[in-house]
Amino acid sequence: MGKRQFHLAWFLSQGFGPKSWRSQWPGSDIARWMMPDIFIDLAKGLERSCFDYMIIEDSSNVPYTYKGSHDTYLKYGASAPKLDPAVLVPWLAQQTKHLGLVPTLSVTEYPPFLLARLVNSLDHVTEGRIGWNCVTGSNDGGAQNYGRDKQYPHDERYDVADEFADLVTRLWEAWEPDAVVLDREVPMFADGSKVHPIHHDGKYFRCRGPLNAPRSPQGRVPICQAGGSPRGQAFASRWADTIITDGGGSIAAMKAYREEVRRRAIAWGRDPDGIKVLFLAYPIVDVTMEAARERRRREQLEAEQHMEMELSTMSRLTGIDFSRFPFDEPLPELTTNGHQSVLAKWIGKTPRQVVQTFASKGGIDFTGTADHVAGLMQEAMEEIGGDGFLLFNAYFDRRYIMEVCDGLVPELQRRSLTRKAYAHKHLTDNLMEF
Ligand SMILES: Cc1cc2nc3c(=O)[nH]c(=O)nc-3n(C[C@H](O)[C@H](O)[C@H](O)COP(=O)(O)O)c2cc1C
Repeated sequence: MGKRQFHLAWFLSQGFGPKSWRSQWPGSDIARWMMPDIFIDLAKGLERSCFDYMIIEDSSNVPYTYKGSHDTYLKYGASAPKLDPAVLVPWLAQQTKHLGLVPTLSVTEYPPFLLARLVNSLDHVTEGRIGWNCVTGSNDGGAQNYGRDKQYPHDERYDVADEFADLVTRLWEAWEPDAVVLDREVPMFADGSKVHPIHHDGKYFRCRGPLNAPRSPQGRVPICQAGGSPRGQAFASRWADTIITDGGGSIAAMKAYREEVRRRAIAWGRDPDGIKVLFLAYPIVDVTMEAARERRRREQLEAEQHMEMELSTMSRLTGIDFSRFPFDEPLPELTTNGHQSVLAKWIGKTPRQVVQTFASKGGIDFTGTADHVAGLMQEAMEEIGGDGFLLFNAYFDRRYIMEVCDGLVPELQRRSLTRKAYAHKHLTDNLMEF
């Protein structure tokens, strides 16, 4: 494949929560982690380097899966605390003009009308820069905060999501584009014949509609999804405009994943180019190869020294208490009602090995100078066929923002691999630009 531009997005892993609070790097007042300052700096950096969007990860419970206690999670500030992502969005929107903003909102936590209304409102006030990271929730502790003992069974969660997505998109489109007339003389604010109730009466939800606000700039806002299991992929290929995934670790697996999603999209009657698949990447960029490799090594050591932190996250994602298994014995066959595609990759490895790859964030090793990492990204994209990368670093600080936005991305732009200026106003148009 010849040289083609690819997309960049940022995954705000651990959501609107404390970042780099154990970092030696001076200059941030971590007691004020709940103030939006560092997130604004990040958003400005991403916009400077023309990222498509930032996803704000979320979960809404203090987990207790690891050792049956919430202590490890709170000790490390991992998975909790987190503030509400929808509150952060307007702060970021006010300080940027083009960057897409994608809060995570769960179909098992929000009633559909409330979610449709919130996203529509955000899309209005950002003038069309909102996306929705559509998740189903996976940890039973989350369900217990919303009146249920357990999450729905894995595949049924996606049935709920199918009905939810259908209902929400119809609410977003309940007002025809020209329903708002604004004629003082008649008078007519909006034309009732162009606003349609939806009368939804489904298996999981009932909703009369219409939405009590006009169609927003994007109407049906871009939907982002991350289901990796076969049922998750079926959902994503039907509804998603952008899919975020680790893609299975190797370039061959990423290529196969993308091709499968595109094949499924065609089966739904969709244009496969209407789905942008972005692969997780955690680059470490420094002025020399040695400096970058040394930092990667230190991170891996650090992760091994704090194995319980990584194990507690693995436990949260799967509902399996990983404190039960010896560090150096291969994990037995396990099943989960949580993240199935993630667990599948761990079976047969020892917990220590899983933590090691978890710490380096699996996949392609993007460690080195800006030139080296840009070259690796170029080669990977040429091999996979598209559509870009979802960069993240759960514990980023201001220095990291500069390394990516003023170090790595300019090198990608110099090679004409990523955009140098935004061509459009709306997130959906930027996503579909190439
Ligand atoms: C990059 C990425 C980001 C995700 N963000 C969230 C999130 O913010 N909140 C959440 O509840 N789940 C999140 N998930 C989990 C997915 O929505 C999904 O539940 C998970 O990938 C398991 O899907 P599967 O069981 O179909 O493999 C994320 C997954 C990935 C790969």
